[in-house]
Amino acid sequence: MVQDPSQPLREVLETSRLVLRRYRPSDAEAVHRLIDDWEVVRWLAQVPYPYSLADARGWIDRTVRDWNSGIDHQFAILKKTAGGTDLVGAVGLRADPARSLRVRELGYWFTPNVWGHGLGTEAALAMLDFGFGDIGMEMVWATALPDNSRSQRVLMKAGLVADGVQTGHFVPIGKTVECPRFVLSRERYALWVSTDSAGVCPT
Ligand SMILES: CC(C)(COP(=O)(O)OP(=O)(O)OC[C@H]1O[C@@H](n2cnc3c(N)ncnc32)[C@H](O)[C@@H]1OP(=O)(O)O)[C@@H](O)C(=O)NCCC(=O)NCCS
Repeated sequence: MVQDPSQPLREVLETSRLVLRRYRPSDAEAVHRLIDDWEVVRWLAQVPYPYSLADARGWIDRTVRDWNSGIDHQFAILKKTAGGTDLVGAVGLRADPARSLRVRELGYWFTPNVWGHGLGTEAALAMLDFGFGDIGMEMVWATALPDNSRSQRVLMKAGLVADGVQTGHFVPIGKTVECPRFVLSRERYALWVSTDSAGVCPT
């Protein structure tokens, strides 16, 4: 669905199994507990490890500032449960302000005990709807470590296509790595959603 860009940005997105919402200061303990996990952090580029409660608080403060300045739109991901919701991950669309606010990097992580049930793809699709709709994104891109097959599969299931390689520094592993890069343009996204095939790799 494409939103009217003159409308205020949604701060809560709902999918069949997830609620995505802006971070709250009270999320810091859960973020610290879930991301201070080598199985998660080892795949990420800019996250310190070990990851302290102060790191989580600093991150949440930054997401509030950057949301308000339009540079970065990050959501906490909550999984619906019988009793309510549990915070299980995060997803966001970050711009490089020196370039264009309409070109965004998609990033995400989930705690391992929910991997493998399609939640990564569900969250990525919700972010594309938000990005191309609410914030008028023109292009989304993402990279993943060469051996991060799960993440590459999520990107392809969300409709992104391979677009060469990009070298990036990964803080937790302390290495600069040439990674596959994936992109999706606004035009291709519109074509894809209009053919009602979202959720299935179009190529
Ligand atoms: C990447 C991540 C978000 C995926 O979340 P998820 O909820 O498991 O994703 P999905 O279930 O939607 O899809 C995972 C896909 O990977 C596939 N997969 C799972 N394990 C795999 C493996 N070892 N090798 C290859 N593919 C694998 C699954 O089969 C599925 O594809 P399919 O639907 O075609 O069968 C999650 O693993 C994660 O948080 N990883 C750590 C952080 C991270 O890597 N973030 C991204 C940085 S680029």
